Formats: sequence, C-alpha cells, structure tokens
Amino acid sequence: PVLVVDFGAQYAQLIARRVREASVYSEIVPHTITADEVRARNPIGIVLSGGPSSVYEEGAPSLDEGILQLGVPTLGICYGFQVMAQQLGGEVAHTGHREYGSTETTLRTDDNQLLGGQPEHQITWMSHGDSVAVAPEGFEVLASTATTPVAAFANDEQGFYGVQWHPEVKHSEYGQGVIENFLHRAAGIPADWNSGNVIAEQVARIREQVGSARVISALSGGVDSAVSTALVQQAVGDQLTAVFVDHGLLRQGEREQVQNDYVAATGVRLVTIDAVDTFLDALAGVTDPEEKRKIIGREFIRAFEQAERDLIAEAAADGQPIKFLVQGTLYPDVVESGGGTGTANIKSHHNVGGLPEDLQFELVEPLRTLFKDEVRAIGRELGLPEEIVGRQPFPGPGLGIRIVGEVTRDRLDLLRQADAIAREELTAAGLDQEIWQCPVVLLADVRSVGVQGDGRTYGHPIVLRPVSSEDAMTADWTRLPYDVLARISNRITNEVADVNRVVLDVTSKPPGTIEWE
Ligand code: XMP
Repeated sequence: PVLVVDFGAQYAQLIARRVREASVYSEIVPHTITADEVRARNPIGIVLSGGPSSVYEEGAPSLDEGILQLGVPTLGICYGFQVMAQQLGGEVAHTGHREYGSTETTLRTDDNQLLGGQPEHQITWMSHGDSVAVAPEGFEVLASTATTPVAAFANDEQGFYGVQWHPEVKHSEYGQGVIENFLHRAAGIPADWNSGNVIAEQVARIREQVGSARVISALSGGVDSAVSTALVQQAVGDQLTAVFVDHGLLRQGEREQVQNDYVAATGVRLVTIDAVDTFLDALAGVTDPEEKRKIIGREFIRAFEQAERDLIAEAAADGQPIKFLVQGTLYPDVVESGGGTGTANIKSHHNVGGLPEDLQFELVEPLRTLFKDEVRAIGRELGLPEEIVGRQPFPGPGLGIRIVGEVTRDRLDLLRQADAIAREELTAAGLDQEIWQCPVVLLADVRSVGVQGDGRTYGHPIVLRPVSSEDAMTADWTRLPYDVLARISNRITNEVADVNRVVLDVTSKPPGTIEWE
C-alpha cells in the first residue's frame, strides 16, 4: 500500500481517498508508527499529511527519523512538508504569519516529476503558520507564493517531494494532478487498484476465513449491509442466509426492493421476518423519542434472535453450524476506533443496527478497508440495483423517528406517500448527489387550518429536511430550487389525504440534529 501518515488533523482520510481515486491502494497509519513497523508493511509510497500549524508547537507530533531512511518515495503535505524539511536539514521559519485559504501560487512546470504538466499560475489552498525558509541540500524549489518562497520542493534522486498547500482539497484546482504525478510519475506506482480487484481479493479472503461453515447476515436495505452481503454471497453462495426484518417502519417499496430486485441481482438465500404487528403493537401509545428508539432496538434484537434460533436449528440438522456473522463496517469506523493501527480510540462503532453484542459468531467484515463511495462502486460492479446502491442514509429506527407523536399504521401510510413524492421529485430534478439526505417528517400531533376546493381543512403539516453534509456530524440545510420545492409541496398537499401544509426546515446542525427525534 501507500501509507498515509496521520498527523492528527482532519486531512488524512481525504488524502487516502484521493490516492485511491488515483487507483492506488492506501492505508492510514498514526504518526507514532516506527520505521520498523513501516518497513513491515512494505509500502510502495508514503504521504505525510497536514497537521497542527507549527512544528515548533508544544507537543507537535513527530515522525520516527528512520522512516525517511527507508528509501520509500515520500510526499510531504503542509505540516508533513515541514517535518520533512526539518528532518532532512532544511530550515523551517517560525514566522508567526499565517497564510490561509485560496492562494496564488507560481509553479516551476518544466518537466519535473511532481509539477510537470501543471499550469504555471494556479490557485492552491493553504493553511499554515510556519514556512520552509530553506530547502534541504540537494532539493530543488518548485513553487512559491507572495509570502512563501519555498512552497514545493523535490529531490528526484532520493524520491522526496513536498508541497506547502493541500492538494487533497478541491479548492486546490489541480491538486489531484499533484497527487497523481507523485504516485505515477515520481514513485512509478501503476494505477491498477479498482473495484474489480477489490472484489476478487475480498472473495478469496472470505472463502479462506469461512471455509465450509454457514454464515448469516442482517440485511437492513441500506448500502453497507447490501454490499457486504452480496460479497459474501459471491464468495460462499448458499452457505449464506440473509435475514431481513420488516419492522413496518420502512419507506415505500423498500421491502419489495430487497425481496425482489436484490435477490434477483445476488441470488442470495433470503429469510424475511414479518414483524410489523409486533413492532406496531409495542409502539402503541408511545410518543417519547428515546422510548421509541429503545423499543425498536429491543424488538429488532428479538426478531433477529428468533430467526437465528430457527436457522441454527436448521443448520445443526444438516451438520454445518453457523459460525459467522456479516457486518458492514467501513474504513472510517476502523480508523476512528483505533483499527489496530495504534491511533487513539475516539469512538467505538456498533454497525448492525442494534444487534446484540454477545452474539456467538465470528465477524466477516469485507468492507473494513473501504470508504463509502468505494462501497457504492463495488455494489454497482456486483450488479446491485441503483435504488439500493445509491441510497441516502436512512436511520435504523426508520419512519418511527420521523413521526412526531405516536406511530400508527395510518400515519405510517401517510408519511410513506409524502416521502415517496419528495424522493421522486428530488431524483427527477437530479438533486440526489447534492443532498446528503432528506428526511420527510410528519407532525402527527399538530393540525392547522387550510382551504381546499370550497371547504375548510384541518390537517397535518409535513416537514422537508434536506441537508448537505460530509459525515452527518455537522450539516447545513440544502438550498433547494424553489420550483422543486413548489412541485413537492403541490403534489403532497394534493395527493396525500390529511396533509394540508408543507414546511421547510432551515436549521443547520448544530443546533438542530438531522432527524427530528
Ligand atoms: P442526527 O439526527 O443525529 O442523525 O443528526 C445523524 C445521522 O444518523 C442517522 N441516524 C441513525 N442511523 N440508527 C441509524 O442507523 C439510528 O438510530 C439513527 N439515528 C439517526 C441520521 O439519519 C443521520 O444520517
């Protein structure tokens, strides 16, 4: 792999993704990694990420000096660039000036490996306090700005390169070109990592892990469980049983998508548990959001455990016990949970919506090394329906937390209709890429007066909550075109009985959360 050394800012994951977008496999490692550990991973390239603003800061993250002695082509970015300069005998000036944001940069674009083929004048994205004042001996200076004389350097012989700007962010116009030049030209790494290879590799790995044992998987209808299940199906076929719990809180058409389209595309053996009555009975009379969540989580575990007991009995009868459970853990979860790389444990993730933690199974996690967009690409390559692969995030408790008030059958039907209209119009307007997700919420306990035809109405409001986000931790409300909002509003108020008003949620997160409950 190409190792991306994480100096603790938010940039390492972005860099790792950009490297992969250049069709080169990358992994993130903490800056505390030793030279021996790096050598053991046999990297074909190293990228040092950005970090705090100054190498002179108290407690500034350092890098084992042996790493730059390993003979591995290395690209330093921002803080990584300065660490490189400092360790290789250059000079980093503690200027106190800050260069921040879009910056006019002049590049040396003769046929040098790093910047060759790039425009001589371009806008790059800067965010640094200190500057490299003198490049290390044997290095050529390749770029400068009005305030930063050494904004990029290279030493072809040693395979060392660095840029002061952030090529991984989109504000650096030609940033991806810098990363690709480093990988393909400077380090000579071929562009040969793609979804096809990942599938082949994961299938082989799953076969080796699972052998002839049986596997179960909880399908939620979401992207991660759909793709991980499809990969395991590809690897071990009928040894896998997928369990899909219909809790009655799904959106229109979701059960059919899983039962028909998904099964047709994958050939997976599917058991659907119809638990609608059980869930709705348990939710009767409940209005408190946390209580709803608890009930839904509890009932989900019960339904899954029942299915599990049946399957275990069946498997025992034919002598092939169930030993494995598929889980759709993604790479960001692995990185953020420490992932065996030695980074601090920021948070532990539990990925399958509320599955019991004491399951007696070994986990199969074929998406552990992948980012979400890569998971989608693999899903497409595996021939999964676009409605599933392109799906926006949908919470485990489903529409149960999008009805403010008691959850009933009628209200669910009503919300499903409104939600289907909103989704249809947003897709028709080509807005799916722009929107992270758009919860549609029913204010079941609120009524307002309206007029329709000749008569007075007294109906419920529907809330549209379109948000833009990178990771759902923070979000902003999406500025949807008025004509699209108008179409959604007209259709919902005309087509959905008992709804006479559509309102738009214009709150960012924080202070609002994305979901209403
Ligand atoms: P909030 O409402 O906290 O949501 O801003 C952040 C993201 O998480 C999703 N969400 C959930 N996903 N189980 C899930 O699997 C849950 O209980 C749950 N609650 C919220 C929400 O849709 C958004 O993407």
